[in-house]
Amino acid sequence: MSEHKPSARGPFEHKPQAGWVAVEDFLTETVVHPDAALQRAVQSATDAGMPPIEVTPNAGKLLKLLVQVSGARRVLEIGTLAGFSAIWMAQGLPDGGRLVTCEYLTKHAEIARANVAAAGLADKVEVRVGPALDTLAALHAEGQEPFDFVFIDADKENNSNYLDWAVRLGRPGTTVVLDNAVWEGVVLDPAMDQVNAPGIIGALELLGKHPQLDATVIQTVGSKGWDGFALARVR
Ligand code: SAH
Ligand code: DHB
Ligand code: MG
Repeated sequence: MSEHKPSARGPFEHKPQAGWVAVEDFLTETVVHPDAALQRAVQSATDAGMPPIEVTPNAGKLLKLLVQVSGARRVLEIGTLAGFSAIWMAQGLPDGGRLVTCEYLTKHAEIARANVAAAGLADKVEVRVGPALDTLAALHAEGQEPFDFVFIDADKENNSNYLDWAVRLGRPGTTVVLDNAVWEGVVLDPAMDQVNAPGIIGALELLGKHPQLDATVIQTVGSKGWDGFALARVR
């Protein structure tokens, strides 16, 4: 279950409306202000032929602000890609803060490390290569200090496993953000994506009943289509 599988969505595709994208571009330029290192990270992903599935700039800025308002010093990310969201979150860390990000593919990890270094964040960010379930078990076995903030954004089939690990590697008060919680309304038609639907819907059900999680979900539109994210707090 820990192996990477490419997304296979059948008839399901993002179709962002022109207005959503134009407004997002305006907000990015007027309010969000991603720095040059962040812009280069997105370009590096395009140049390397990676899928364009990093968070939007306004969502990345939200992650940074959530790290800051929660006072997080230790951040765990599951799913690195080119390091775009990792750089945003690391930019919200205080001096001495640390971010560990889990990535299955060596090529992605290498590009992410270069982007993190170019952003001046190499001392804060560690990219760990391998199936995330193995890395999470290793982090637990190492007996590291609890994580204050967890961002889950990898293979959707393991979303519920990652939520369980977030609780286990966190502490009461840990913030958990789960990306892709709406997935073009997959809950209305699970058959539209037989690979990802069970993991996404299962995670929503778990968020609603997990005794140690208190959660909500926000729907979003923009350049990545109709999607959303879950925000949870460990009790
Ligand atoms: N959070 C990133 C985007 C992550 S895309 C951003 O917003 O910038 C999802 C990433 O998860 C991909 O790089 C993919 O290779 C990785 N991935 C998929 N399955 C994985 C697994 N089982 N363990 C670790 N990483 C995985
Ligand atoms: C996909 C994965 C993501 O994490 C995302 O934010 C958007 C799309 C995908 O696998 O297609
Ligand atoms: Mg995502």
